[in-house]
Amino acid sequence: PKRVLSGIQPTGRPHWGNYFGAIRQYIQLQDENDGFYFIADLHALTSVRDAAQLRQNVMDIALDLLALGLDPKQATLFVQSHVPEVSELCWILLSGTPMGLLQRCVAYKEKVDKGIPADAGLFTYPVLQAADILAYDSQLVPVGADQVQHIEVCRDIAGRFNHQYGETFVMPKANVLDDSAKVPGTDGEKMSKSYDNTLPLFGEVKPIRKQIMRITTDSRPMEEPKEPAGHHLFQLYSLFADSGQRDEMAAMYRRGGFGYGEVKKAIAEASEAYFADARARRVDLEKNLDYVGEVLQAGAERARSVAAEVLLRAQQASGLK
Ligand code: TYM
Repeated sequence: PKRVLSGIQPTGRPHWGNYFGAIRQYIQLQDENDGFYFIADLHALTSVRDAAQLRQNVMDIALDLLALGLDPKQATLFVQSHVPEVSELCWILLSGTPMGLLQRCVAYKEKVDKGIPADAGLFTYPVLQAADILAYDSQLVPVGADQVQHIEVCRDIAGRFNHQYGETFVMPKANVLDDSAKVPGTDGEKMSKSYDNTLPLFGEVKPIRKQIMRITTDSRPMEEPKEPAGHHLFQLYSLFADSGQRDEMAAMYRRGGFGYGEVKKAIAEASEAYFADARARRVDLEKNLDYVGEVLQAGAERARSVAAEVLLRAQQASGLK
């Protein structure tokens, strides 16, 4: 079994991109591996400035992950800030990280380009992410395509440290799913909480259905045959369809003579059915918040015991101990 690790920011409700790019992998990988999954509240501090909101978001994501099938008997679920060893390791790593490495990070550059004021937390975000990964000797990091650069930065930082002080950290690898590395949002661009184009996993069915019916499309005439590959509606439908259904939809695209409204309806129905069980489980879990608290506490204890060992290794290697 491999040490698999990944994190999700508590910055809002998780969406289809989070699920099909990342969370689905957490669940698929948890049986055969040693999964460490955490809620990245320290990272969220760079954008969520309201204390009550942050607390609420953390609890919500914990409920979401458990409802979606993350099993605390198989995997370790915890909150990032409950493991202070990670922040300590972060400082050690910061001291060996060249400015240029962080200046090249797209996630940071994008925000600056958009005129969002950047603080040092946002700039050094990838180093904290590297500490997250390295603190648990993680081998595999299941993520969407947008996080691959951050894993590369982590490997760079680990490599520099190992080169300077001798073998200390395990080299992690990103695990990205080919067919859902970059799930499109309601405007056809990458689905992202910061672009306001997301479709949520949980919530009332009716408003979500409305959002689906409003997904942006082109105005090509109905009769015209269309190429399914790369079309955002086809991509979204494919997330939920089995291969037979997908082939049928592809054939319909190539024949032409259909309206995008039909595809949207199919997406709405398929997604409702797909998430129905998770939604029901979430309602049950909401009545049992004590249980969720216990899961997170047990997770933090387990995570700390691993991170403490790795931190000690890094302290000894660098002369702090
Ligand atoms: P976050 O919270 O933005 O996203 C959580 C996961 O969802 C994936 N994802 C997507 N995948 C496919 N299509 C999309 N449209 C899409 N949008 C989001 C992300 O790639 C991610 O895997 N920095 C991380 C959190 C983090 C982390 C870590 C991850 C902190 N430390 C250590 C891995 C390892 C983030 O902001 O994810």
